[in-house]
Amino acid sequence: MAKAKTRYVCQDCGTDYPRWVGKCDACNAWNTIVEEAPVASVTRIGHTKGKAAETVSLQAQMKEYARWTTGSEELDRVLGGGMVQGSAILIGGDPGIGKSTLLLQASAAVSKQVPVLYVSGEESAQQIQMRAKRLGLDQAPMKLATTGQIESILATIAQERPGLVILDSIQTLYSDKSESAPGTVSQVRLAAHELIQVAKQTHTTIIFVGHVTKDGQLAGPRVLEHMVDTVLYFEGERGHSFRILRAFKNRFGATNEIGVFEMQSVGLEDVTNPSALFLSERPEGAAGSAVLAAVEGTRPVLMEIQALVSQSQLAQPRRTTLGVDGNRVAMIAAVLDKHCGFPFGNHDIFLNVTGGLKVTEPGADLAIAAALVSSLLEKPIDPQTVVLGEVGLAGEVRSVSQLELRIKEAAKLGFTKALTPPLGKTTPKGMQVLSLKRLDELTTGLFDR
Ligand code: TYD
Ligand code: MG
Repeated sequence: MAKAKTRYVCQDCGTDYPRWVGKCDACNAWNTIVEEAPVASVTRIGHTKGKAAETVSLQAQMKEYARWTTGSEELDRVLGGGMVQGSAILIGGDPGIGKSTLLLQASAAVSKQVPVLYVSGEESAQQIQMRAKRLGLDQAPMKLATTGQIESILATIAQERPGLVILDSIQTLYSDKSESAPGTVSQVRLAAHELIQVAKQTHTTIIFVGHVTKDGQLAGPRVLEHMVDTVLYFEGERGHSFRILRAFKNRFGATNEIGVFEMQSVGLEDVTNPSALFLSERPEGAAGSAVLAAVEGTRPVLMEIQALVSQSQLAQPRRTTLGVDGNRVAMIAAVLDKHCGFPFGNHDIFLNVTGGLKVTEPGADLAIAAALVSSLLEKPIDPQTVVLGEVGLAGEVRSVSQLELRIKEAAKLGFTKALTPPLGKTTPKGMQVLSLKRLDELTTGLFDR
């Protein structure tokens, strides 16, 4: 029999190599290759006898899955309307962002509906008990276990028969069957596979907590994303108290859905009106600030975009952005330059979405353009104006999805004027809507009352 060889596995994407290399060819990551123990070789499939899988006809009476409420409307919505029985969920985020806090609060609420087992490989039972006490959750009927060994976790599940299991975190999981270090790709894959299988058989919901590396990737557990039903990311800035939970993948609800929370001394609280929060520190009468009506998942959210434009001393002017794609901003500046005659070609641009928010949708283009022009001309935009629309390379203003929903949200927050792409038949009430066909109509719309 051939000797099993040691493998070298990329901890980000799981590609394996026969020898160590500095850079992974598959995902271009540096220094992510780690030596892992060999896996037992598999005999050829043709020689093994399989057992036929059980089949079900499509029309067969289906079993309705229960959904449990987590006690937080924000979390329930991000999950697609509560936690689905028997689903596998992955929650990723920076260390210290509040994942354990969120899950302790959620599992305490769920423990009033089904038995809950909280498995922590990071904190001691006392630490968790202390935190629960501080959050006023110490009366919740849930069980704690502090281990990372998969065999032990599986035995505990078999003994306790919980409806929900929290695994905090995948980086601490290990199996005696594998010789690799805890948290490596092969350990994580093995652990997740075994646990998900048990969860599906027993209709147990399982939540994996995963820490994210500096560059925003789940360490190792990238490989986990396709094994679970739901992937959520918990984001936030160190200096800010609010946190955003984002659905990256969800088999039971909409993706891009966000939940907004505020970290307080007594844990995470729902923020029911995020638009008001995001706009609460808007400067009065300052140039370079525009309000965008974005849509995150199913919910409209207003946010502020700030630009600072100044004469450049450099041959190649700077384009520094936070929260928006720099290329997108460079493109909008170029369109403003070419089609509207604004001299952005010799100006530095700094652009920021306030509160550490991120926008990826092209519907933000017009608001970015508005902030840029406002800063360049040093003219403040009317504070009751909201701006939305995509900008095309030919200088045209293009439509955005769910226009009515966005305008409604703006009206709810006291905005009275909206600069939008050409509207269809419907004109929303209570709002002066100014439809722009071309980007060069922007200035008249922005500064004229
Ligand atoms: P934690 O849930 O331990 O983060 P993670 O599990 O993602 O690593 O959160 C830790 C941080 O949250 C810590 O810096 C303290 C802060 N925190 C509060 O501000 N208020 C609270 O009530 C709790 C429990 C934590
Ligand atoms: Mg934690």
